[in-house]
Amino acid sequence: MKKIKIVGGKKLSGEITIGGAKNSAVALMPASLLADGPCEIKNVPDISDRDALFEIIRLLDVKVEIEKDVVRIDSTNMNNKLIPEDLSHKLRASYYFIGVLLAKYKYVEVFFPGGCNIGSRPINLHLSGFEALGATITHCEENHKYIIKADELIGTTINLGFASVGATINIMFAATKAKGITIIKNAAKEPEIINIADYLNLMGAKIKGAGTSEIIIEGVKKMHAANISVLPDRIEAGTYVLIGALLGENLRIVDFEAKTNEALLSKLKDMGIKYHIDEKGLIISKTDNFKPINIKTLVYPGFPTDLGQPMTVLLTQANGKSYFEETIWENRMQHIPYLTDMGANIELVDNNHLIITGKTKLKGGRVNATDLRGGGALVVAGLIAEGTTIISDIEHILRGYEKIISKLKKIGAQIEFIEED
Ligand code: EPZ
Repeated sequence: MKKIKIVGGKKLSGEITIGGAKNSAVALMPASLLADGPCEIKNVPDISDRDALFEIIRLLDVKVEIEKDVVRIDSTNMNNKLIPEDLSHKLRASYYFIGVLLAKYKYVEVFFPGGCNIGSRPINLHLSGFEALGATITHCEENHKYIIKADELIGTTINLGFASVGATINIMFAATKAKGITIIKNAAKEPEIINIADYLNLMGAKIKGAGTSEIIIEGVKKMHAANISVLPDRIEAGTYVLIGALLGENLRIVDFEAKTNEALLSKLKDMGIKYHIDEKGLIISKTDNFKPINIKTLVYPGFPTDLGQPMTVLLTQANGKSYFEETIWENRMQHIPYLTDMGANIELVDNNHLIITGKTKLKGGRVNATDLRGGGALVVAGLIAEGTTIISDIEHILRGYEKIISKLKKIGAQIEFIEED
């Protein structure tokens, strides 16, 4: 069984490069199927979610080639097919094929998507958006299979009950080829949505307002080939900033985009954690003494839920009590018992609230990654802990942190893959 072994306490210096955003790439690849010719996506991160998506895309008789970080997708000979349960359960982003296949064929057969076990992960907002556009949905409860079809899709106004990232993107996909105008109100404003809307517009779609809470889509008949580059992963970047605050020695995060990480930067400032930003990126060194802070995860541009779990590790090193509230997911605290086993002083008030008292010494130990960002948090904990940490179930981590072992080794971490029964 492949595991990650870390010997903590090493100073980290030098340069770290950030890959393309997972949460954009996993939508840009399905989006390519809307074009009627060969598309090219640059800066695709080398993560297992990428490979899982390739399997689904190839199943639909679409040609996929990859050369380093460039993915070429050609849907010229594409066929509509049922996406099998094992593939659609591999990752949450498989639901993006619903919006794409609905737009292209007006008929989709798919199983409920999988993903991290951080919550029930419903897709009701996606489905009600499709119904608003004129689709009918048959849901076979026993095997979680959905059949979604429409004689035609007609533009309408859709008010999202929650600014859901996935629902915003999926409804945008379906609306690109609907008749007339679709307005998505209370749309998610995450930067990844702008990246995806830009790609669709390059294919000939007519989308305005991406990145704001109101997105207007005028349906078009045809969408042609286009090329796009994935924007940098603000969550990967933010995770390395947190690591730099704990162990950095002039650690540089190259091409760090301050504008998409303002919530994190303002929290670091409030805590008295120093960093410097210049034209080449962000430079950060370990701050020995910093203040506790209250964190409440929110939709963009609030503090991102995907940085919440790694942030809890930083809070164990603050001088005093920090209050942490997770408002997006209902089960994003599974890493906490492992942190307390390592010596952290964390009161798990309930599945959405923590009281973290620092500064505590963490000691290395045997831990399990429970989900992607929880696993990221355990890597951060292992890097600062005294002694050795062995992380199991690391497939969760490899889903979304590109080349995490080699990137950390390059800046001085003592971290490696090991084989252990
Ligand atoms: C995206 O998930 C990201 N995943 C998540 O990142 C991220 O945490 C989340 O957005 C919020 O930023 C991808 O982009 C692949 P949501 P998504 O729809 O789209 C509820 C990571 O670590 N909801 O904004 O699934 C849902 O239960 C992953 O990279 C409904 O109730 O998130 C949750 O409580 C984890 N009904 C909340 O909304 C729906 O139909 C946020 O969901 C859809 C969502």
